[in-house]
Amino acid sequence: MESQIHSKVQEYYGGIAKSITQGQQESCCGCGSTGNQSCCDEISSSAVIYKGENLNDLPKEAVDASLGCANPLVFAQLKEGETVLDLGSGGGINVFMAAKQVGQAGKVYGLDMTDEMLTLARSNQEKMGVKNVEFIKGFIEDIPLADASVDVIISNCVINLSDDKPKVLSEAYRVLKEGGRIAIADVVNLKPVSADIKSKTDLWCGCIAGTLELQEYRNMLSEAGFQGIEITPAHVYTKEVLGQIFGNSPEYNASGVDMDEVDGAFAGAYIKAEK
Ligand SMILES: C[S@@+](CC[C@H](N)C(=O)[O-])C[C@H]1O[C@@H](n2cnc3c(N)ncnc32)[C@H](O)[C@@H]1O
Repeated sequence: MESQIHSKVQEYYGGIAKSITQGQQESCCGCGSTGNQSCCDEISSSAVIYKGENLNDLPKEAVDASLGCANPLVFAQLKEGETVLDLGSGGGINVFMAAKQVGQAGKVYGLDMTDEMLTLARSNQEKMGVKNVEFIKGFIEDIPLADASVDVIISNCVINLSDDKPKVLSEAYRVLKEGGRIAIADVVNLKPVSADIKSKTDLWCGCIAGTLELQEYRNMLSEAGFQGIEITPAHVYTKEVLGQIFGNSPEYNASGVDMDEVDGAFAGAYIKAEK
């Protein structure tokens, strides 16, 4: 199952997790930015993504490790007692928020393939003393859970990184109970962009190369068996926003990307569907 993409992604996110564990980095930029720029821009800081949520009872390292592109919990509508799975749980921010909502009668699994992220997430769990959470190692393309065992799947800025999205979605469908739902935040493509521009843009904003257009995403969800599909762009990356995020990055400045072409081409979106 381990692919070249997996190794690259593990190396990248493993490095981020390590520096947070060592207290060196606040990684508030979603989407694999290259770390040279000052983060915490208007769109990607956890304060903006999780506006209105109480993050004060989460460990600093869980909030610092926030790498998402939108908040899946605003539309997941979790209920007490539900079993939730977070695909690509990173430092655990979405898992801990979900755990509060489902309560002691519920359970939240965080699935991640990167050892350093799992170590960070488990250390955060220990600091919080939460018992209704379990971090498990594995690939989102091969989910290590039984069929029909989960009520809700959440995820934040992860599926765009996979080189086998149909497999991720069919695995998500398999582990969901009948009537279960997904509430996913992911980066999507809002207008056609050439493969060349995508791969150049990916050099400074690592979640771009694998983004899907809205209709492609809908088709893939539908082919996996999902119904009631809704995709709503939440945070649009205009060229001004991209400039704010990446303006200090050498990769951004050397990429030669025509910013008019990428202006408004990508967004962090809310994706909902049911089994
Ligand atoms: C952009 S970070 C998002 C982390 C977290 N969801 C958040 O909101 O902060 C992506 C995470 O997904 C994990 N990941 C990426 N591809 C994966 C895959 N194919 N299988 C399992 N985990 C994966 C990475 O290790 C990393 O922790």
